[in-house]
Amino acid sequence: MFSKEIYTARRKKLSEQISDGLILLPGNSDVPFNYPANIYSFRQDSSFLYFFGVKQPDITGIIDVDSGEDYMFGNDIGIDDIIWMGEQPTMKEFAGKNGVSQTYPTEKLDDFIKNALSQGRKIHFLPAYRAQTKLQLEKLLGIPAGEINGNVSEELIKAVVKLRSVKEPGEIEDIEKTVDVAYEMHTASMKAAFPGIKEQEIYGKIEGIALSHGGPVSFPVILSVNGQILHNHHHENILKEGQLMVTDAGAESPMHYCSDITRTVPVGGKFSEKQKGIYEIVLKANIEVIKNSKPGIFYKDMHLLSAKIIAQGLKDEGLMKGDVEEAVANGAHALFYPHGLGHMMGLDVHDMEGLGENYVGYDETVKRSEQFGLAFLRMARKLEPGFVITVEPGIYFIPALIDIWKKENKFSDFINYKKLEEYRDFGGIRIEDDILITENDCRVLGKPIPKTVEDIENLMRMR
Ligand code: GLY
Repeated sequence: MFSKEIYTARRKKLSEQISDGLILLPGNSDVPFNYPANIYSFRQDSSFLYFFGVKQPDITGIIDVDSGEDYMFGNDIGIDDIIWMGEQPTMKEFAGKNGVSQTYPTEKLDDFIKNALSQGRKIHFLPAYRAQTKLQLEKLLGIPAGEINGNVSEELIKAVVKLRSVKEPGEIEDIEKTVDVAYEMHTASMKAAFPGIKEQEIYGKIEGIALSHGGPVSFPVILSVNGQILHNHHHENILKEGQLMVTDAGAESPMHYCSDITRTVPVGGKFSEKQKGIYEIVLKANIEVIKNSKPGIFYKDMHLLSAKIIAQGLKDEGLMKGDVEEAVANGAHALFYPHGLGHMMGLDVHDMEGLGENYVGYDETVKRSEQFGLAFLRMARKLEPGFVITVEPGIYFIPALIDIWKKENKFSDFINYKKLEEYRDFGGIRIEDDILITENDCRVLGKPIPKTVEDIENLMRMR
């Protein structure tokens, strides 16, 4: 946990942005996977963590905007649980660590909320992404579970996004440590990418590295020789010489901050000339975005910069043609790059996405495009110091998408479908780093993970 002064200051800042009423922040509960006592490893809600810092399940936080008081509702565990789980801190002890002024048993929460409702007070709450939370809110507020997310407080969402978007020094330090864990995961993955190995062996090894540092992975590891499938969770292929292997993986720290890194390597340790040709384009897009990202720049413009570099590179390889600016303006490059450049990262790997992507990555100055490709951009708005974001351009050869576009003769002024046949089985390449926007520019977080052709080949040679 951070110090109690940090949590107290965060709750105060949040209160100052809300007009009146109560802020209701339910923590998460345990979730069973095949019978009640066999539970998924517990993950606290990130906004609850941000304002209250407590990792235990079944605690609800309340901030009274009008009186300035704050509360936690939860139960101390009894001897039956102590026998199985060992002693746990009491609610009062948690309050001593996060500076909350009052704690009550869970059974008092109902009356507390009913009393506020009977006085006509506003209750602000965030969108719920778990059914259990919707049911809890239904019981407390009398709103049907299915209608909870239609009744959330936009004022609260905007206030939470504003605070969580700008990372404090302690948060940056913790994120950077998890990028260092990702360094170990990715270099281990590179050293293992040799013919005859099954993807799942490498997958297990790198997930184990995250676990050995005290946290889980920050999202299910994506590791595949079929990197053209953007989020490929199938790990049963046996690696063959001549393939490319994409590893998109990060760790979560014991404090629950995330890293998210992607590297693409040649199975066997040596890029072919054809692979190198495409790899260098993606690398250039990644490097140029990092060079140009700074406060005041719209991330949408960084996405378009990466798209133009990719379109120009593909034109140089004979896969695209025509005017590059025009091709990108029309969205022709999205055949090869059908996703956004990156997203915010913090306590969630897609930070705050549960609050609504449009609140996190967009604002009144930039609206979501409807164009295929550009529409999937999670982060478009102006960069500010303290933002932590991913930079993850890619080039993919997706046979199903190629077939549809080719049949429609789509953008045939910009795409060389004949040449494309030579790349049908190429796979995909993505290169991703995590950056911090600083006062004047940005910096890549963590220990540099090999990403040039030369550095990757050297590392793979040293296995
Ligand atoms: N790196 C996985 C994702 O951004 O969805």
